Amino acid sequence: RDGDPPDAWLDDLRRALPEAQVDVWRPGLPPGYDHAVVWNVPQQLFDEQPQLRAVVNLAAGVDKLLDLRLPPALAIVRLEDAGMAVQMAEYACHALIRFFREFDAYADQQRAGHWAPRRPRARADFPVGIMGLGALGARVAQAVRQFDFPVLGWSRTRHALDGVRCFADEAELGAFLQATRVLVCLLPLTDATRGLLNQGTLGQLQPGGYLINVARGALLVEDDLRHLLDTGHLAGAALDVMAQEPLPADHWLWTHPRVALTPHVGAQTMRGESVAQVAQALRAIERGEAPVGLVRRDRDY
Ligand code: NAP
Ligand code: GLV
Repeated sequence: RDGDPPDAWLDDLRRALPEAQVDVWRPGLPPGYDHAVVWNVPQQLFDEQPQLRAVVNLAAGVDKLLDLRLPPALAIVRLEDAGMAVQMAEYACHALIRFFREFDAYADQQRAGHWAPRRPRARADFPVGIMGLGALGARVAQAVRQFDFPVLGWSRTRHALDGVRCFADEAELGAFLQATRVLVCLLPLTDATRGLLNQGTLGQLQPGGYLINVARGALLVEDDLRHLLDTGHLAGAALDVMAQEPLPADHWLWTHPRVALTPHVGAQTMRGESVAQVAQALRAIERGEAPVGLVRRDRDY
């Protein structure tokens, strides 16, 4: 995974699963393996290893993996939290507080050598709506609550979270958006969510709203965001994920004055926690039990 030497993963996996034979996949490796532990692998792996019973994805999102042709009975497992939830909480709170406390304006003032305290703003005017209340979204909701912002959440099925006003399903999406000023997106990318952040939905946020997208770039229609920023309906955006990654050098997002970008680092895969979860999952599968992080094929997350 991203910059981590494959040998380090191999050594850790071998240590965590001493009962298993663990090899690095390469094209042409003879078939016969029961499980694969993957990140960003080509179709060829599944074509050459049709006997696989389970695949563990070294990430929370499985959208890229599900784009491949996978055997229908293959168990798909993803990382669930594994050290990522706290990173998402840091990211979302950092962006939220940067917007709320106007730290970008103070940075401009510093560059201009201009000493000018701004009037404090009320938390009540900054309701934070979190789309997706899963392993990551629920942790973000809890962290945002600690700063006393009003917190709302939206998910496919109804959740009950302490101190969070919960909305569910498409029927309640409008009410959720209209009650939100700072929108944090932590939805998986599926057929149901692709392009969900568009002019129609973001346009329903309260005026002077903000978007924090830490999920997947394809959830957002980037040109709709540009329009809403340029017309002033939205005051800013913090984006960790883009439709095309790496972001092309000439993309408008690089230089928009009200967009803050990071290169898909919102929550990075932590080797120690991930290897422990992989080992736990593969042992559960060997015992015939459902592992933590089992992906439901009928809903694609
Ligand atoms: P998760 O535990 O599967 O939670 C997904 C949440 O989204 C659930 O609350 C689910 O509702 C909700 N949801 C799914 N489809 C929906 C729909 N059509 N309408 C409304 N709600 C819907 O996922 P997670 O572990 O929190 O991760 C979320 C996403 O974050 C990942 O899929 C990945 O793309 C992204 N991610 C990004 C980074 C990064 O570095 N930027 C790192 C890790 C993950 P229910 O609860 O009702 O099922
Ligand atoms: C990273 O984007 C992940 O899905 O874990």
